[in-house]
Amino acid sequence: MKKILAMILALVMVLALVACGGETAPATEAPAAENEAPATEAPAAEDEAPAAEGGNLVGVAMPTKDLQRWNQDGENMKAQLEAAGYTVDLQYAANDIPTQVSQIENMIANGCEVLVIASIDGEALGTVLDQAKAEGIPVIAYDRLIMNSDAVSYYATFDNWDVGVKQGEYIVNALDLENAPEGTTYNIEYITGDPGDNNINFFFDGAISVLQPYIDAGVLVCPSGQTEKQAVATANWATDAAQARFENILASYYADGTELHAVLASNDSTALGVANALASSYTGPYPVLTGQDCDIASVKNMIAGTQSMSVFKDTRTLAAKTVEMVDALMQGTEPPINDTETYNNGTGIIPSFLCEPVAATVDDIQSLLIDSGYYTQEQLDN
Ligand code: BGC
Repeated sequence: MKKILAMILALVMVLALVACGGETAPATEAPAAENEAPATEAPAAEDEAPAAEGGNLVGVAMPTKDLQRWNQDGENMKAQLEAAGYTVDLQYAANDIPTQVSQIENMIANGCEVLVIASIDGEALGTVLDQAKAEGIPVIAYDRLIMNSDAVSYYATFDNWDVGVKQGEYIVNALDLENAPEGTTYNIEYITGDPGDNNINFFFDGAISVLQPYIDAGVLVCPSGQTEKQAVATANWATDAAQARFENILASYYADGTELHAVLASNDSTALGVANALASSYTGPYPVLTGQDCDIASVKNMIAGTQSMSVFKDTRTLAAKTVEMVDALMQGTEPPINDTETYNNGTGIIPSFLCEPVAATVDDIQSLLIDSGYYTQEQLDN
């Protein structure tokens, strides 16, 4: 059985690599919609939980279908795990923490052998994870680290600090801050994501690490004064909340003609809110605007010139790595790890695999997103 599984897994890995090389269609279907909740998001049980067949059930808990990327993550994980011979219980929790907890409880009750969890709030899963640990079920934190629980065995994610660094570097280069003439100042505003998502610490601090010398030198200034992580956070990474906050900022600090030169937005759903606010409430020269994920709506905005860059995180690659981890755990071998220093969840370092993020501008869309089969041209056409 193990040999057969290993052969199937090897085949899946080859297929995933070929897909990354652009020769086959992506594992993912077209996402349901751009930043819209598909009609089918039922919090309680989106799919019937599969019966445990022969003890190879994997529970995959995703936060929400509201944001495009989790649809792709879920579909990729399911397809790749099934191709490797596993039965998958994939659930979305509509960003509702009690729903996610009860979905995980059900996965445990149904006999799953490994849990893969992209948490809504990394602090909020406590007891159900103790239950998993008591039953000997390994937990892989997917993309977002689960905090303060010693039930977390592994972490599969992207290099989140590097995501922020790439955003910060883009701003430095786009405004040519290194060559800013003496006395010149540039106005910047900040927006990041959900305070319960540990990733915001890495995205935001990584970007600020690059911008800090220019802030210290007074070259970058923030007219709203909203610079602390908590002040610039966005509950649930929601586009409408981002838009509302920026409409306020623009009305309060820029309505007199003050020019906004740059917005550090940690991801595409918040960048989209900023772009909407700029469209409705700002008439000055368009600022530099960062993002992350290469969501379809943001790629379209890059084409339209209303978002400057994004950071591409290929969810096919993350899914493939996570499937390797699951398979190793199922077979009692060592999961792939390339970082044992960065991610302390409060109970100690969680061994991690960090995939590589790639900065993307409008010039990279063809090679990164279309040639690689991540999107079709039609998906990006208006
Ligand atoms: C992910 C980002 C995503 C954000 C909102 C973060 O945890 O790493 O890719 O944009 O959540 O879904």
